[in-house]
Amino acid sequence: MDLKELEGIISGILDKAGQEIEGVREGARLEEWKVRYLGRKGEINRIFSLMPGLSDGLKREAGRMMNDLKSRLSLMYEEKENDSVESSGSVNLSFPGKPASYGHLHPISLTIREMSEIFKRLGFGVEAGPEIETSYYNFEALNIPDGHPARDAWDTFYINEKEKILLRPHTSPVQIRMMEKNRPPLRVVSVGKCFRRDAVDATHSPVFHQMEGFMVDRNINFAHLKGVLTYFINRMFGDGIRVKFNPSYFPFTEPSAELSMTCIICRGKGCSTCKNSGYIEVLGCGMIHPQVFRNVGYDPEKYSGFAFGMGIERMAIIKLGITDIRYFYQNDMKFINQFS
Ligand code: DAH
Repeated sequence: MDLKELEGIISGILDKAGQEIEGVREGARLEEWKVRYLGRKGEINRIFSLMPGLSDGLKREAGRMMNDLKSRLSLMYEEKENDSVESSGSVNLSFPGKPASYGHLHPISLTIREMSEIFKRLGFGVEAGPEIETSYYNFEALNIPDGHPARDAWDTFYINEKEKILLRPHTSPVQIRMMEKNRPPLRVVSVGKCFRRDAVDATHSPVFHQMEGFMVDRNINFAHLKGVLTYFINRMFGDGIRVKFNPSYFPFTEPSAELSMTCIICRGKGCSTCKNSGYIEVLGCGMIHPQVFRNVGYDPEKYSGFAFGMGIERMAIIKLGITDIRYFYQNDMKFINQFS
């Protein structure tokens, strides 16, 4: 073999090694490349093994060329390792990264936002009240005196029964706080956590959320109540949904009603969800009781108003087609990520 021939072999190896390393994208591949060229049975050692077959006159120059090839290949390896491969050899820093997950709102928060937006469009303000309440705001001011049988409807957790401090079982006390602090005209919704001594099952949770709303002004009547709530239901669930108001009883409203809407599952045809009635009950409402107005210092001869209260979980269950309230609190990402 003469030097020309050796030169040809060497430049062939350099070209091939250069092309191959170009396409390397991960540490493991780079290590394979290194073994192929610089390893014990690699190309470099194969070239060196040609040495004994060369004439003495060529050995010096051939040795220089081979060492040069070895340092060029080593340099290629180091450069590649530095610019794209972490030293562990397993991560390619030149790859685009995985996008970070920023998280998203919980389906209950999404439902609260959607409901609040609808009421904001009608000019309602959104307020919050305390989760720890006094018995006065929670019961007495709402025309539910001590010993009144209706109290049983709100199975309440007491923090201190003697001092009458409790975890609010509904958001209605916010009505009282808002009316005490402001003068009519008033249009307010308030949203938040409520607590009841309920055993957990598919439709009950001891912690849940409610939205309360009310409107007070001169000459507010039942038609205003129907108009506002029908608008809300149609924006929330669609224009084709019909609403029905059935007589009901709440101590803080007179008259009181229960609003039912077309069953969203069967669209009114009748199914197991609506117990074949075609309608599902979604909220309580009514005209604010004169005694409630007196309790906050409003003249019931001068002012009138309506109020309503509903469960957020119930709204979300209907809207999102969820079958069990417990899903909301289990933090199962497979569930939660469906509602981003
Ligand atoms: N507070 C009631 C409950 O928890 C819901 C309710 C009914 C609120 C009628 C109201 C209303 O403001 O007018 O069951």
